[in-house]
Amino acid sequence: MLLIKISNFTQKRLNIKKTPKKWNTIAFNSSDNQNESSNELHFINPIEQKLRTGFIRNSIFKIFYSTNKNLATNYENFSWTVKELDSNSTKIPWQENQGQFKAETTLQGGKKLKIAFDQSKTFFLTSLNDEVVFSLSIKENKAKKWLFFNIEFINPDYNIFGLGEQTEPMDKKGKEIIFWNTDNPTYRMGSTPLYQSWPITLVQQNGFFYTFICDNPAFSKLDMQHQKEIKYFVHDLQLNFYIFWGSNLKDIMEQLAFLFGTTYPLPKWALGYQQSRYSYTPSNRVREIAKSFRDKCIPCDVIYLDIHYMDNFKCFTFGNEFTDYKQLIDELHELGFKVVPIIDPGIKIEQGYPVYDEGIKNNFFLKDRKNNLITIKVWPGDCHFPDFLNKDVQNWWSSLVQRFVDQAGIDGIWCDMNEPSTFDKRRTLQPDAQHHFKEKNWTLEHEKIHNIFGFFMTKATVEGLLYKSNNPFVLTRSSYLGGQKYASAWTGDNHSDWAHLKNSIPSILSLGLSGQPVVGSDIGGFTGIPDPKLYERWIIQGAFYPFSRTHTAIGTPDQEPWSFGENIENIAKATIKLRYKLIPYYYSLLYEAFVKGYPIMRPIFFNEINRFTLDKIYYESEFLLGDFLLFAPYMTKSNKRDVYLPPGEWYSWWKKEELFVGDSIYPIDEEDNEIIPIFLSDHAIIPMSFENLNFVPKNS
Ligand code: GLC
Repeated sequence: MLLIKISNFTQKRLNIKKTPKKWNTIAFNSSDNQNESSNELHFINPIEQKLRTGFIRNSIFKIFYSTNKNLATNYENFSWTVKELDSNSTKIPWQENQGQFKAETTLQGGKKLKIAFDQSKTFFLTSLNDEVVFSLSIKENKAKKWLFFNIEFINPDYNIFGLGEQTEPMDKKGKEIIFWNTDNPTYRMGSTPLYQSWPITLVQQNGFFYTFICDNPAFSKLDMQHQKEIKYFVHDLQLNFYIFWGSNLKDIMEQLAFLFGTTYPLPKWALGYQQSRYSYTPSNRVREIAKSFRDKCIPCDVIYLDIHYMDNFKCFTFGNEFTDYKQLIDELHELGFKVVPIIDPGIKIEQGYPVYDEGIKNNFFLKDRKNNLITIKVWPGDCHFPDFLNKDVQNWWSSLVQRFVDQAGIDGIWCDMNEPSTFDKRRTLQPDAQHHFKEKNWTLEHEKIHNIFGFFMTKATVEGLLYKSNNPFVLTRSSYLGGQKYASAWTGDNHSDWAHLKNSIPSILSLGLSGQPVVGSDIGGFTGIPDPKLYERWIIQGAFYPFSRTHTAIGTPDQEPWSFGENIENIAKATIKLRYKLIPYYYSLLYEAFVKGYPIMRPIFFNEINRFTLDKIYYESEFLLGDFLLFAPYMTKSNKRDVYLPPGEWYSWWKKEELFVGDSIYPIDEEDNEIIPIFLSDHAIIPMSFENLNFVPKNS
């Protein structure tokens, strides 16, 4: 938790109300490397702008644009996160006619897609079955170092989904979003930016999806406040931009998976219920918590160690209150728990602390433009920060993780404060921090790569865990496009109130649609104190999040499933037990996420677009687990609500003889449903466990 005022520096970036006024229109009047049968158009104009564009797959179109061909870094044919840069498997050649270019293809489902490109105006016009749908133009303000991608739809009637970690509403039409990974411990509905950056815009129009992806980890802004326009501003002079088309969301998710990769195969226990607080200390308190779970027969797989396990908040150490950590972790393992400690990127400056000494000796910490080490306060006081883009630093960090696992026997790592968050007025690293990307021999200023810092920390961390296990577990607060390759995520420091309870469904669904399938929100809320009813509602809903963990801030009262009286304890127990029955189903959904990139938790419009699935009343308060189970939790104190069931037939989970005809709205009452309203699709196959598990058994 960090409560520090936003600095001028950040504010300058956050309040970019002033849209740069002078946009230069870009005229390309010379070209090179033109090849008639090529998938790609490749232009350089006399003032050195560069544009490469074409299909890299049947329905994935790419635009690389740079305003200066001599940039120290060249993102042409490069991405920090895209797996498949170029694929020549599909030949969709451009055809030229007097400076106008055209490319045509047939999409899955049979629609004919045409793209026309006018090089004199850097203007793309796209049509489906010969009907113009949207245009895209690129502009720039070179002096101010801004690029500007403007998408204009002909028909203003569309929804905008995706966009990663954001608060409700899930449909972002009419909103503005900032991508600048930020620790915002007091975030509320509408706060932007947050901890992660996923600039993936999914536009839904007439049941068809258009996806726009802006791949650049510098500060960027997405302005969707206009009737027909979506405007991307990026504070850099180059950018890779992708467009996909798809007749359904499964198709879109598969394309995302093709580009960015999918989640790694997590251990099955990561799908169990997890318990945390800031902080369980001393070690005997952890023992008490673990024992209570087992005594009370409330299933739980993971206990988290927050920063107080450390010696003076020094990463990869155990402090005075955890001198018996080896024994503790052995005992927890005996009881079937896994142990996941927190690790932050800030390394305490202290001679004799091996992590600090090694970092200094090997020149692994970030320096400024004048080659001075960067020193900023975080939990341990003055810290240096690893240069995570540097492969040598990644290897070193991986070795620290590996040693930590060997030393303590921990089971996973929780990466926090990795936006990175700092306690100075800027709240993050200074803009001129020098990052080294050795593979390309690039030195990059922090401003240019800010949003990818946490992503690289998770990469180095998971690589460390991979020495020991093929199924590593990393949890992260900060991430970037494609971050699912390295870590699962939670939605940061939420608040114990009804708005945050309600918000967790849209945020998890939005992250899922952006490619991150294993996500959860702190059950009960992190800051503040949930009243018993709120915790009851939250544990019932949160027990079914893909990542299910209760966590709370320092100084708050106990927030365990039994902390709110016997009645709620029994409800929590029954709910978590049901989660454990469904673990085989969750695991098959994780497999689907791994293979195809589908989210585990899906919006009700995932398979079916109609006026009800697109009504936020329903899609923000219900969710599908895979294709077969629909959950309609109570989101307020009221014990009544309506549920919309998509077309098909649905059984009540609790009264299997009750069949509901879909495409209808039903009033439901808490009394008619045990625990939580769940509906089962009539053609469902649900792998389940009928053992009475308190944790996921080893090697299961
Ligand atoms: C941050 C994290 C929170 C954690 C705390 C202390 O606020 O978001 O989850 O408990 O730091 O480490």
